[in-house]
Amino acid sequence: MDILHSTLSEYLAIVPSAKQYLTSLGIEMQDDTQLLSALQKVNKQDCIPRCEFLYRRAMAERDWSAISNKDLVRYIIRNYHDVHRQQVATLIDLARKVEAIHFGEPDCPTGITKALKKIYSDLDIHMLKEERTVFPHFINSPHTNCDEQIKNAQHDHEDHLTAIHSIKALTKTFSPPAKASHYWLDLYEQLEMLYLDLTDHTYLEDSVLFMRS
Ligand SMILES: [Fe+2]
Ligand SMILES: [Fe+2]
Repeated sequence: MDILHSTLSEYLAIVPSAKQYLTSLGIEMQDDTQLLSALQKVNKQDCIPRCEFLYRRAMAERDWSAISNKDLVRYIIRNYHDVHRQQVATLIDLARKVEAIHFGEPDCPTGITKALKKIYSDLDIHMLKEERTVFPHFINSPHTNCDEQIKNAQHDHEDHLTAIHSIKALTKTFSPPAKASHYWLDLYEQLEMLYLDLTDHTYLEDSVLFMRS
C-alpha cells in the first residue's frame, strides 16, 4: 500500500496511534483528504518520514499469517531495506556535524560517526545477501534447503542488534542534553527511529519470515 497516497481515514485505520501526532501538526481530520497533501501543507520537514515510520511501527505488530512470502519479502525490502539505505547519508552527515560542533563537551557522543559507518557497512552487505540468496528461497523454492544462509542471517542480526544497543548506550537512550543544537536533536530523533526500525525489521525476519522455512 502506498501509504502517502491513502486518505487520512485509511491511514488512521491502520495507524490509529498517529492521530495525536497529526493533530499536533494542526491537521484537521477530514476523512477523504489525502495524507500526502495534508502533510505538504504543514511546515515541518520531517513530518512525511515520521508518518511513514509510524506506519511501519503499526505494521510490524499486525498479524502476518495470511500474507504470502512474496508480499512479506516485498514489504521488508520496501519498508526496511530501502529505508535503511536512504537513512545512511543523513545520519552520518548529522553525526559528523554533532561530533565536530560539540567536540570536547561532556555529553558529546564521541565515536558515533564511526559506529554508524560500521553498522551501515555491515547492514549493506547483509541486506544484499538476503536479497540475492535468502529472499529468493522463500519466494521461489521454500522447500529447498537454505538453513545455512538463514543461520548466517540470524547471526548477522545478533551483531546488528549488539551494535545498535551500543549506540543507544552511547546516546543515553537517545536523550540529548538540555541545550542541544538542532543537529543534535535531529540526530537523536533519527537514531531512535533507526533503532526501532532495525528491531522491527529483525523481528519480521527472524520471527515471521524465517519461521516459514
Ligand atoms: Fe532484511
Ligand atoms: Fe536481515
